[in-house]
Amino acid sequence: MTTPPPAAGDPVTPGDDGRRQFTRDRYDSQSYSCLRGISLTGQVPAAGALVTVVGMDAAGCPAHPGLAEALAGAGLVVGAARHLAAVPVPPGCATVALGPLGPALDRLRAAVAAGTPAVVLASGDPGFFGIVRRLRAAGLPLRVLPAVSSVAAAFARAGLPWDGAAVVTAHGRDPRAALNACRALPAVAVLTAPGAGAAELGAGLVGWARRLLVAENLGTPDERVTWTTPAEAVGRAWADPHVLLSLAAPPADAAAGPPSGAPGTGASGVGAPGVGGVRGPATGAMRADDQPAAAPPGGWALPESAYAHRDSMITKAEVRAFAVARLRPRLGRLVWDVGAGSGSVGIECALLGAAVVAVERDPAAPVLANAARHGVDVRVVTGSAPAALAGLPDPDAVFVGGGGTDVLAAVAARRPERVVVTLAALDRVAPAVHLLRAAGYTVEGSQLAAARLADLPSGSIRLAATNPVVVLTGERP
Ligand SMILES: C[S@@+](CC[C@H](N)C(=O)[O-])C[C@H]1O[C@@H](n2cnc3c(N)ncnc32)[C@H](O)[C@@H]1O
Repeated sequence: MTTPPPAAGDPVTPGDDGRRQFTRDRYDSQSYSCLRGISLTGQVPAAGALVTVVGMDAAGCPAHPGLAEALAGAGLVVGAARHLAAVPVPPGCATVALGPLGPALDRLRAAVAAGTPAVVLASGDPGFFGIVRRLRAAGLPLRVLPAVSSVAAAFARAGLPWDGAAVVTAHGRDPRAALNACRALPAVAVLTAPGAGAAELGAGLVGWARRLLVAENLGTPDERVTWTTPAEAVGRAWADPHVLLSLAAPPADAAAGPPSGAPGTGASGVGAPGVGGVRGPATGAMRADDQPAAAPPGGWALPESAYAHRDSMITKAEVRAFAVARLRPRLGRLVWDVGAGSGSVGIECALLGAAVVAVERDPAAPVLANAARHGVDVRVVTGSAPAALAGLPDPDAVFVGGGGTDVLAAVAARRPERVVVTLAALDRVAPAVHLLRAAGYTVEGSQLAAARLADLPSGSIRLAATNPVVVLTGERP
């Protein structure tokens, strides 16, 4: 969507850098710090031209000073019941309490057509995971007066920076993608929904080294900010609305619960720097603009030398490239790497944004060291599959690099969308294909045998063969 041109009466002036800048003639710099990016001229929207969307709550600021003027000129005010009850709607002004959005959009369109100024009340910054998207999609001309978003407020309550955090929503969708983002990334804010909040997401994060901050009823007298652990979050009742921050914790925290002296429940400021071992969130691979990277800066299909490994027991780069491509890792998905060995396949899935569980029977396998070397978070389960798979969260995709038919059968029983298997022993190929087909997968396979360039003493170059491997991909239709 492109930025609309300024509407008639819109008090904007072009800035030196060509972007829209807003005039400021009535407020001192202190209040302005609370109000960046909004019109401060005191003008009300031109009649019939605009719907004014006003952010409330979560700001730690009083109601926006533009609100009173917008309300005074409004013929229609739309908002959640709690927002309508909190503002001085003028006598005789029509109101619509938000339930389903469709009827409210009809009323707003009619108001605009009739030249009646309208106001929509919303939470925090309505342009950030908020109602502005739906209003713009409905073709309504808008002026937005934002408050501080609940995500910014939650990080502020924690006293932590959030420029490297990912923000995901569990509203109106399967919360597994949000959960897998929390498992994959070191700093994630989740906009929760009833039934997909701190208790449910906490349950899914047990086993990952995370500390959680739950910020309930931000900006209201009932505000409560709580540091907790995934295991503790499960058993508690959390008030809606709340925002969840999921932050990487030192590994010891995962099993041991909150760090000693960790802040508990309290008012704003409980996460003061240095208290209870609370540090700034680590960041993963970053883009140049400080946002989480969508692709690893160092690439993937890395040479074997990029991983500690034993006895050349590592999936070769050429095969790994193909296997990782077939697993389709990305943010929001969970990949199991079964028979992880060095962890190279799972680590490259994590580099591409997936949450990863590596299952390996050898306790000396260097998966954690390799993951740390590449700056990704991989949960390692030490044990023999299939038994070690019990109790793990259901995966979206599974790489089977070790283990027999029993392992493949146990994997297929968990119904991942994709299963990728590498097999060196030809006698195992047909049973694996039949097993996957019987489990409802369409299967394709190919044999890969890369021959690498190698120098000869003469200065000439020869081909050095790597071991042939059959790669099977099972896809659930
Ligand atoms: C060929 S290596 C895998 C290499 C790995 N993909 C990598 O890039 O390093 C096979 C691994 O599977 C492990 N393994 C074999 N059977 C297993 C089982 N049933 N459960 C867990 N690990 C198993 C072995 O210990 C070994 O580390």
